[in-house]
Amino acid sequence: MTAPDALVAAARAAMANAYAPYSQFRVGAAVEDGTGRVFAGCNVESASYGLTICAERMALGAAVAAGARQLRRVVVTTEVDPAAAPCGACRQLLAELGLDVEVVAVGPASERRWLLRDLLPDAFTREALDR
Ligand code: THU
Repeated sequence: MTAPDALVAAARAAMANAYAPYSQFRVGAAVEDGTGRVFAGCNVESASYGLTICAERMALGAAVAAGARQLRRVVVTTEVDPAAAPCGACRQLLAELGLDVEVVAVGPASERRWLLRDLLPDAFTREALDR
C-alpha cells in the first residue's frame, strides 16, 4: 500500500493548483486505487458558481478514467484546522467504489480519519436499485 505520506504529498501538490478564485478555499485530494495507483485532483470553481467541482470528485474521476474500480484510501487536504471533511456530494460519489474506504482529512496541523461507511450512514447504493 502506498505510504500515507505519499498520498498527502500528492493531495497537497494538487491543492497548490486549486482553481478557487471565488472562495479562496483551496482543496486537494488524492485517492489510492485497489492496485496502489495514486490519482490527485483539486477543486475547480466557475463564474457560474454552481458548476464548481470538488477536489475529491476530480480525483475520483481521474481514477475511474484510468480504469480504477476500487479504492483503498482517500486523502483530502485543506488549509484549515480542524481538517475539513468531504462534502456530502463527494461522499456519495466516492461510495460508488465501495464504502470500506479509509478517508483521511489533513489540515496544516491536524488529521482526522474515518471509514466512508461512517461518514455516509445508511448509504444509498446500487443494491437499492436491485430491490
Ligand atoms: N470543496 C471541495 O473541493 N471539497 C469538499 O469536500 C468541500 C468543498 C470546494 C468547493 C469550493 O471550490 C470550495 O471548496 C468552497 O466550498
